[in-house]
Amino acid sequence: MTEEINAGLEGVIVGATELSNVEGEIGRLTYRGESIETLVQRDFAAVLNWLMTGEWLDADQCGELDRWLADESELNAVESRVLEQLPRDTHPMAALQALAPIVDLVPTGQAPAWLDEQWVPGMVLAARINAAVRVWHNLSQRGEVFAVPAGLGFQEKLLYGINGSAPGAQALQAINTTQILQLDHSFNAGTFAGRVIASTGASLSASVAGSLGALSGPLHGGADEAAVTMAREIGSPEKADGWVRDALANKVKIMGMGHREYKRLDPRAAILKPMARQFCEGTEWQTLMETLVAVEDTCQDVFSAKGKEIHANLEFYKGAVYLALGIPERYFTSLFACSRVFGWISHFHEFNREPRLIRPRALYTGR
Ligand code: ACO
Repeated sequence: MTEEINAGLEGVIVGATELSNVEGEIGRLTYRGESIETLVQRDFAAVLNWLMTGEWLDADQCGELDRWLADESELNAVESRVLEQLPRDTHPMAALQALAPIVDLVPTGQAPAWLDEQWVPGMVLAARINAAVRVWHNLSQRGEVFAVPAGLGFQEKLLYGINGSAPGAQALQAINTTQILQLDHSFNAGTFAGRVIASTGASLSASVAGSLGALSGPLHGGADEAAVTMAREIGSPEKADGWVRDALANKVKIMGMGHREYKRLDPRAAILKPMARQFCEGTEWQTLMETLVAVEDTCQDVFSAKGKEIHANLEFYKGAVYLALGIPERYFTSLFACSRVFGWISHFHEFNREPRLIRPRALYTGR
């Protein structure tokens, strides 16, 4: 009997989910049936609650959830000490992966009374991960942690913490959009890694730590940092065409281009491209943005000449928005994790409603 191997599990259905739907052939992404184009017009707290629970909050509840998450976005003394002990050049994703399994999941404040308590530990973990990104950024970039004023919203606190000043309305709208776009994406590698870990009966924290590791790789979430590194290396839009043609001729992957599922433009990239243009125009990031556009144009030329469909993915233009918000590229993937962690937690709960050990087979080819 010939054994077929599908190393990348392309097209293999390994489970069901109600959380998000990636319709790659038509370039559509929905969370519980709602398209991302409409979801980005809402508040992050409302959308994360929709994703996790399937319920819409009213404006008061939304504000209450946002404030509670912001208040929980602090580290206790032990968690802070773990970060303080790390070498300062530790990558933020490695710092998060080190911290996640030992985070205290007991809230320090009163969770909203209407929130089902099954969600509390996960939301606390997500809030602590947001805090860890802010604290690690401050420790590794500045050597000390900025004091953040009380009363800020969840995303506002994160941006304030990174920049040391209050973000304007436009910046808040932009972070709201980018973070909504990254909440969930079906059985991507990071989420699937988390579901595999959950399938062994391991804890929520263990599952999230594994997802963080998977997200960090340059073929997955790490492509956000890699795309900007590439644009910096190219240097200017005029040099992009030659650089890309050389790279492709040498089988070098263009970071932020291509996707396993999307055969059309990634709908998240369609939202982020005009936003990145608007944010970078007239700033120090304009050349970088124009370089990205030129890279995309050449990729389209080369691939369409071969009859292939390869487009920009979420990661390609997101970095330009993040840079304009004051977030250095080393922190891009950890900002991604700040949002996707809510998706991982949703999948952990969904998986555990009908758990089954995930254990595939290998074709033995050894002696
Ligand atoms: N640059 C150059 N060539 C590419 C790229 C790219 N970015 N993407 C796909 N291709 C080519 C491959 O070389 C391959 O060509 P071949 O058939 O001549 O060998 C063909 O297109 C198919 O590509 P695969 O890598 O086999 O397709 P897969 O489904 O595994 O790819 C992936 C998906 C890994 C995302 C790929 O497109 C890639 O490496 N992109 C760059 C990294 C990246 O941006 N990752 C972020 C994805 S989004 C996210 O995870 C949040």
